[in-house]
Amino acid sequence: MNTVTLKAPAKINLTLEVSSADDGTGYHNLSTIFQSLELADTLTIEKASSLSFDIKDNLNSGLEIPADESNLVIKALRLLEKLSGKSLPCHVSLEKNIPAGGGLGGGSADCAAALKGLNELFCLGLCQKELAQAAAKLGADVSFGITGGTALGTGRGEIIEKLPDAPAYEICLLIPPQGLSTPSVYRKWDELPDNKKHQHNRKPSLIIKNMLSRTWDDKLFLESLSNDLEEPAFELYPQLRAIKDSMEKAGCRKAMLCGSGSTLFGILGNSGRKELASELSKFGNLAFTKFRSIQ
Ligand code: C5P
Repeated sequence: MNTVTLKAPAKINLTLEVSSADDGTGYHNLSTIFQSLELADTLTIEKASSLSFDIKDNLNSGLEIPADESNLVIKALRLLEKLSGKSLPCHVSLEKNIPAGGGLGGGSADCAAALKGLNELFCLGLCQKELAQAAAKLGADVSFGITGGTALGTGRGEIIEKLPDAPAYEICLLIPPQGLSTPSVYRKWDELPDNKKHQHNRKPSLIIKNMLSRTWDDKLFLESLSNDLEEPAFELYPQLRAIKDSMEKAGCRKAMLCGSGSTLFGILGNSGRKELASELSKFGNLAFTKFRSIQ
C-alpha cells in the first residue's frame, strides 16, 4: 500500500458543561457530548522520498492555513516519528471543507486522521488506545477524532467514552464573518459571575448518555442541548445571540453555538432549506449537513 485517503469529519458539541475553572494548567475540566458530522475534510497520504504538504481550500475562505510545522497534521507526523523511532517520508494533501476558526474542530479532525492514516500506511502497529494517547498530547479535541460518531468527553475533553450513535439529525451551520479564539472564550467564562457560568441546572451530558442506551426522546434531547461557552462567546460577539434567535424564528427546532464558536448549528424542522437560506444568509455562510453515524 502506497496511499491512504481518509475523511476528517467536523464535530459539534451537543452538550458542553465546564465543571472547573483553569487550575493553572491553562485548561478547564469539562463534560461534553461530541457528535461527528458528514461535513468533512479529506486527507490523502502517499509514501514519498521526502516530506511535503499541500492544502487545497475548497471554501476559498481566504484564511491562511499554514502548511508548516505549526500545522497539527505535521505535529501528528513528528510525534509518530518520535514514538516509532522511524522517519515517515510522505506527501500529505489536505482538502479543506470545514471552515477554520469556527468551533467545528477541523484542525483536530485533520490531526486525528493524520495519526490514523500514518499508522496504517507505515504499519506502525499502534492500537486504538495508543493512538488516543498520542492524540491527547496534540490537543483536547483530537482524541475524539480517533473515535468519531457520538461520544462522551471528560477531563479536558480528551478522555473519550464511545456511545451508541445518535439519530442522524439534519442540521444547518451558520458561519458568521468573524471567528472567535478558543482561549479568549474560556478566559471570558472564568470572568463570568457564578449565575451565568452554567446554561442548565441538570446534567445534560448524562441525560443524553442515558437516552442513547434507552428509547430516544426527541423532546428531551432538544431540551438537553446546552453549551456553557455560549454566554462568554455572546459577550465577546453580541450579534451571535441575535443570530441564534433568528435561526429559531426561521424554523430551526433549536439553535446553539458549536464548541467555543463562532459557528452556530440549528436542528432542522419543517422549514425548507430554501426558506432558511433566504432568512439566514444575511448573517454569514450557511451550510447543510447531518450527524454522522459510524456503527
Ligand atoms: O487543546 P486545544 O489546543 O484544542 O485547546 C485550545 C485552547 O482552548 C487551550 O489552550 C485552552 O486555552 C482552551 N481550552 C480550555 N479547556 C479545555 C479545552 C481547551 O481552557 N478543556
